[in-house]
This record gives sequence, structure tokens and C-alpha cells, in this order.
Amino acid sequence: VSIVYLNGRFEPLEEARISVMDRGFLFGDGVYEVIPAYGGRLFRLGPHLQRLQNSLDAIRLINPLATEQWREILETLLQRNAGAQPETEDQAVYLQVTRGVAMKRDHRFPEDSAPTVLAMTHPILSLDPDTRARGVRAITLPDSRWQHCHVKAITLLANVLLRQEAVDAEAVEAILVKDGLANEGAASNLFMVKQDVLITPPKSPRLLPGITRDLVLDLARENGIPCREDEISLDELRQAEEIWLTSSTREILPVTELDESSVGTGRPGPVWNRMTALYQAYKEAVRDGRAA
Ligand code: PDD
Repeated sequence: VSIVYLNGRFEPLEEARISVMDRGFLFGDGVYEVIPAYGGRLFRLGPHLQRLQNSLDAIRLINPLATEQWREILETLLQRNAGAQPETEDQAVYLQVTRGVAMKRDHRFPEDSAPTVLAMTHPILSLDPDTRARGVRAITLPDSRWQHCHVKAITLLANVLLRQEAVDAEAVEAILVKDGLANEGAASNLFMVKQDVLITPPKSPRLLPGITRDLVLDLARENGIPCREDEISLDELRQAEEIWLTSSTREILPVTELDESSVGTGRPGPVWNRMTALYQAYKEAVRDGRAA
């Protein structure tokens, strides 16, 4: 059985309960993180907890736990949910903090509610290698989300509708466009290669500052792959040599078809090949305890 952490206790998923008056349930009033763990070791925990802090600050909620408490809870949770061969398993930790339970439904902040803290794990189902090697299709859609996309809020209705629209169009992701600029995917960050230079939009309230995005930029800089942070117009995206989507659970996904056209040669490109090898090497270093 899968064990979850809820408000100070580890318990079986089937037994975990929250009140219908929880503000996460009624208002989507909360924030979350998704953190991969390879061989039981948390990947980029520091940056994820820093982003959690930034999200909590943005919604004016006090972090209920100190960094070391978070680490202990998440590591315990991974151990409690480990299978027969923990060294080879890839898990993702999902955690969320909501503004807690208030007995009256009122938009304004309650005066004395304690935050609700939930953490659970699930296996990372990696995309089948053939699909990854072939690349995937994405479609472009108008970005209908709010103006605080840098906050990792649990309020994901726009993202849910956008992703489903992509799925209905037989695509794996929607690339979101606002004012002529492509910002990110419904649940991923966006990269393109133009004249051999790797480009991703700069951090702003229009997109989530992805942990995978930052790692890809670091790996590019350390390994001499030309890169820069710059706006990507929809027109430029349509001319791109390569397009990638990045996230903690999907890693670096090559997009080989955008709307009705193929991207570049229609196959994952040479820069993607190189970056994927660097990323996999980094993951293995984390798995072996040589990196964090
Ligand atoms: N989503 N942009 C959005 C809107 C996202 O929801 C995500 C991740 C990312 C990539 O961020 P990171 O590299 O830190 O995973 C970008 C997670 C995985 C989710 O909602 O499940």
C-alpha cells in the first residue's frame, strides 16, 4: 500500500482524509511541488524547496516546515514507499500546502487556520523510448491563464483545459502563446534551437521558473553549448531547428511536429541528443550519490 504524509502523520493513502472545508478543496488556495527521486535520492531538492518558499511568499502563507524537516519527511516517505529494488526506482514526490480548514466559506484569509500539508509519491512512468526517440507533437494555443504563472499554485483549471485540448488534438502538450510570444507548455518549459543557439524565455510572471529549465541552462553553460534567455515569438518558433519541452517528470522532450508542420528535419536534433546525454549523466550521478 502506498503511504502518504498528511499533517504530521504517515498513513495509508486509502485512510488519508481532509475536511471538505479545506481551502485547497474549496478555493484552490494552495501551492505545490513535484520533485523527482532517482534511486531514492531527491533530485534538486534545494531549488525545489526554494521555489516552494517563493510560491508560499507570493500567496502570503508561512512555510509550516523548515528545510531540514521537509527533507526528513520526504526521505522517510520515499523509504516507506520503496519497492524491492530501491536503487533502480524512479519516484516523484508530490507535495502541497494549502491555507487549511476554515469553518466558514469566505474568500478572505481565515484568522487562525493551520495550513494543510500533504506529501505523496508515485513511480515516474517514463515515456516509452521509441516515442522519445521519434519526438512528439505539440499544438499552440492562446495562453488563457492568470498573471501569476511564476507561482506554482494548485489552481490548475486553465492548465487542465489546455492540456486536454492538446490531447484531444492528438498532441502531448499545448504551447501557450500570449501577445505573440510563446511562453511555456501547459505543464512544461519551452526551449528552441535557432542557428545552433539554445534559447528559452527569460523568467517572468508569464511562466513557471522550472527546475529542469535551470538545470538544462547550467549544463549548456558548463559544456560550451551556446545558449541565451530571450523571448520566443510564435513566428520564430515556427522556424526553429529544434523545439524541446522540459519538466521534472518528462525530462527533455523533443517536439518534432508543431501544429500541422514538422520541426526542423522532423527528427530530434543534434543539440537535443547532446543535452539528453548530459542530463542522463547528471541523473545517474544523483542516483549514485555523486551529485544532488
Ligand atoms: N509541472 N511550467 C509549468 C506550467 C509546469 O506545471 C511545470 C511542471 C513546468 C516545469 O517545471 P519543473 O522543471 O520544475 O518540473 C513548467 C509539474 C511537473 C506538474 O505539474 O506535474
